[in-house]
Amino acid sequence: MNRIALLAPAAALMAAALIAAPAAFADPSPDHPGEQTVDPYKASNANADATPRGDPALFAAFHGKDGVSRIVDDLIDRSVADPRISEIFKNQDLVRLRRTLKEQICYLMDGGEGYSGRDMKSSHKDMGIQDADFNALVEDLQHAMDKEHVPFRDQNKLLAMLAPMHRDIVTK
Ligand code: HEM
Repeated sequence: MNRIALLAPAAALMAAALIAAPAAFADPSPDHPGEQTVDPYKASNANADATPRGDPALFAAFHGKDGVSRIVDDLIDRSVADPRISEIFKNQDLVRLRRTLKEQICYLMDGGEGYSGRDMKSSHKDMGIQDADFNALVEDLQHAMDKEHVPFRDQNKLLAMLAPMHRDIVTK
């Protein structure tokens, strides 16, 4: 057997190993270490799927960027541990979700630099999210906002911006 014939099976094995590499070995996003790469898409604030309220008092009621960050972290921790919806969060890129959800909420409250994530329809496609899942997540969000001592009327202003997204997120 010549040298090429000997090397060919090894090359095939290496190629197979690369193709079968688990997500943990996927190239991290160059801009955001720790995140998995996603299919290319056009980044735009329009992907946030709601119009900012133009109400600076609202961002203050959420305690600015730090408050939104605490709320999103708490919401994701609660959702992951919530037996009603925990299954949906398994094997998902929660590093990216934390970053983009914080961006989205800050943007909607006129408190961020902009939203760089995908639109709600493509972010949630194929997840089979139902009405009850949506309501469970909203409940977890309410607990997270309570913990941050966001006044009830301000909580409702955020929820009013998120509610119309139901039509793009709930697919069942
Ligand atoms: C109005 C409500 C919601 C908003 C504003 C929202 C927002 C987002 C955002 C910004 C992303 C990331 C987009 C990107 O990767 O570019 C995302 C992904 C995700 N969302 Fe939602 N979401 C909502 C409702 C829900 C519900 C009800 C569930 C399940 C119960 C859910 C589960 C997920 C999961 C698991 C991902 C990660 C997908 C992945 O890693 O590819 N979301 N969502």
